[in-house]
Amino acid sequence: MKNIILCGFMGCGKSTVGKHLSDILRIPFIDIDSYIEQKTNMTVKEIFQKYGEDKFRDMEHEACILFSQNDNKIISVGGGTLIFERNVDVLKENSIIILIECSYETLYKRLMNDTTRPLLQRNNKIKELLDKRMPIYRDISDFVVKGDYSPTMVANSIADIIKN
Ligand code: S3P
Repeated sequence: MKNIILCGFMGCGKSTVGKHLSDILRIPFIDIDSYIEQKTNMTVKEIFQKYGEDKFRDMEHEACILFSQNDNKIISVGGGTLIFERNVDVLKENSIIILIECSYETLYKRLMNDTTRPLLQRNNKIKELLDKRMPIYRDISDFVVKGDYSPTMVANSIADIIKN
């Protein structure tokens, strides 16, 4: 089976939903941010602080190349991963891309006190980035599910799409 890629804005639930979906479909789950954190033994925040965003984006791209070489996995990408065409190009070939779409209100509630995500440390950053990215997410994804519900509900709706 093709890889199932979960994409969407920070806080949309990609990682949590991915773990549930992995249990439902019995397919291994990979989280690209966690993979990078384990490999470097640093948090994403520390990587941004020490090496800058460009270096993080290169690490992210290398991870995309690596994981595109196998199929039958559920892959949660970062909120910025598929904004870069080079990542879409390598992943798209053997993947179904699912967008988990949340309202601004849901994202704001989930992210307002977040200190771990380097790109959110400025006022109004959520709205500005969301407006910029949403058309791109929609454009590159094969299916869209609403992410404003519980992770189990969202995972079940993705499982229904995959099984049909
Ligand atoms: C980013 C999203 C983060 C992480 C990094 C950059 C982005 O992942 O990759 O902080 O550009 O949207 P999550 O979407 O899992 O928070």
